[in-house]
Amino acid sequence: MTYQHILSELKDQVLYVTINREQKLNALNKETLAELADVIAFAAVNDEVRGILLTGAGEKAFVAGADIAEFADYNGQQGEELARKGQESVFNAIANCPKPVVAAINGFALGGGLELAMACHIRVASDHARLGLPETSLGLIPGYGGTQRLTQLVGKGRALEMICTADMITAAQAESIGLVNAVVPQGELMAKAESLLAKITLRAPLAIAAAIKAVNAAAGSDENGFEKEIEEFGKCFNTLDFKEGTLAFLEKRKPVFTAK
Ligand code: COA
Repeated sequence: MTYQHILSELKDQVLYVTINREQKLNALNKETLAELADVIAFAAVNDEVRGILLTGAGEKAFVAGADIAEFADYNGQQGEELARKGQESVFNAIANCPKPVVAAINGFALGGGLELAMACHIRVASDHARLGLPETSLGLIPGYGGTQRLTQLVGKGRALEMICTADMITAAQAESIGLVNAVVPQGELMAKAESLLAKITLRAPLAIAAAIKAVNAAAGSDENGFEKEIEEFGKCFNTLDFKEGTLAFLEKRKPVFTAK
């Protein structure tokens, strides 16, 4: 698939994905969502990709939301389809991706933009970033998982405050409530995300994938997270990476993991 609205580049086992609609503050229109779905599906199965760094073009916005112009005349059924399709193909696909996805929030992360960042496994933000779920000011609620993921990350009280006031918060406030993992000056944002991914890509890839599954199960109402952990823990013992990791430790050398 040729991409019109995103840039993607593989470097040092990390797939850099940049949403590239700077004139529209990287708002998520249908094509951009389709391209994101495609690139995440590719990254999930490509052995050369060990991690994904997701960011927005320019210094003003990570993503300023779903493209409001596209759904302005939707009815209820079209709205439901929009949310369902987006959640399945992009937002849940990112959250369930076996490769770690780090969001580098380089500016506004609003509505679908914050939901996109929250679907990622780790978030780092530049100090000028502003985050919020302003949908209630449009007569909507978040539809790409925002009511669920924000509540999981910051708790019910703060989630309802952010959603019902539609207020934006600063990067520093976001860090203080656990919505982002770290805040750095804009010039250091990519380096911060890269250093996290550089560490993660040294670890055993199948163990990382198992960790993502087990941690995700903590939020799922349809599965027992402790059971999932036991199951994933057991599966790790069947991997060559487990043999290599333990052998390397005993031989006092660095492991060479092969994702097998
Ligand atoms: N959907 C569609 N277009 C958007 C957009 C969105 N979510 N967010 C920004 N844009 C477009 C603007 O329409 C404008 O396009 P134009 O130049 O063709 O008129 C361009 O991006 C620049 O945005 P603008 O509003 O002029 O920038 P600003 O600096 O004055 O304000 C924001 C920045 C982020 C505060 C403002 O763009 C905004 O509130 N965006 C919508 C946020 C939102 O409600 N998101 C949730 C959607 S569900």
